[in-house]
Amino acid sequence: MLKIENISKSFNPGTVNETKALRGLNLNVNDGDFITILGSNGAGKSTLFNAISGNFFVDEGRIILDDQNITFMPDYKRAKWIGRLFQDPLKGTAPHMTIEENLALAYLRAGQSKTFSRISKKDEEFFCEKLKMLDMGLEDRMHTQVGTLSGGQRQALTLLMATIVPPKILLLDEHTAALDPQAADKVLSLTKKIVEENHTTCLMITHNIHQGLQTGNRSLFMADGNIILDLQEEERKTITMEEVLEKFKAGAHKDLDNDRILLSE
Ligand SMILES: Nc1ncnc2c1ncn2[C@@H]1O[C@H](COP(=O)(O)OP(=O)(O)O)[C@@H](O)[C@H]1O
Ligand SMILES: [Mg+2]
Repeated sequence: MLKIENISKSFNPGTVNETKALRGLNLNVNDGDFITILGSNGAGKSTLFNAISGNFFVDEGRIILDDQNITFMPDYKRAKWIGRLFQDPLKGTAPHMTIEENLALAYLRAGQSKTFSRISKKDEEFFCEKLKMLDMGLEDRMHTQVGTLSGGQRQALTLLMATIVPPKILLLDEHTAALDPQAADKVLSLTKKIVEENHTTCLMITHNIHQGLQTGNRSLFMADGNIILDLQEEERKTITMEEVLEKFKAGAHKDLDNDRILLSE
């Protein structure tokens, strides 16, 4: 459903600060894939998401989403098909608006309601049902300003907003990394539930190698702007951690950052 063909992206080309963030990367994502993406800092993981979202146009290559060539489509036009979460829970929501208003805005953005002037009773009930699913009691706080929520609650709400109308593809960029362990577990299990229920195609960047290998159906490892290891479902089940690290080392010509391993214990 998503075909990425030979994409490259350089920042500050022709200067001393030139960085080749993506180097001829190819990726074929199947409908319903839940892919985890691992790799060292600076490997190009977030840049890959920026390329898919259209934050910039790639220098080379093509991006095809559901048979449509979106390579040069502006970001705001792709936005309705692409849900995205970042590490920072403050990024996805408007703090001075209520939970209900944030959800209404997400609904409006996805093209499901026509005006923002009034939230209909029907929409309100729909939002309430969705909030119940988070199991955080937020359905009783629909008129609370989002700025007063905890990081975990806010990230769960952002997840709901990104999927309230299921996107074609959901991009999660270390979306639990800034949360305390308990909140991170909660948001990850909600993520799995929502992705499964909607059969959403999902790419999730994580620095936690154990989590990465246990979540979804496929894992990619990136280094130096490319995918150097692509573990499909069957292989992922049987491969040992030592073999993964060995294969990464062979493909990247270096070890996976130590902190990435240590952090994930
Ligand atoms: N907007 C930008 N301007 C300049 N350099 C960038 C920009 N975005 C990313 N980079 C550089 O591209 C490389 C890949 O970055 P990134 O995709 O953020 O890595 P990752 O998410 O894997 O840690 C890094 O060297 C980073 O400094
Ligand atoms: Mg990143």
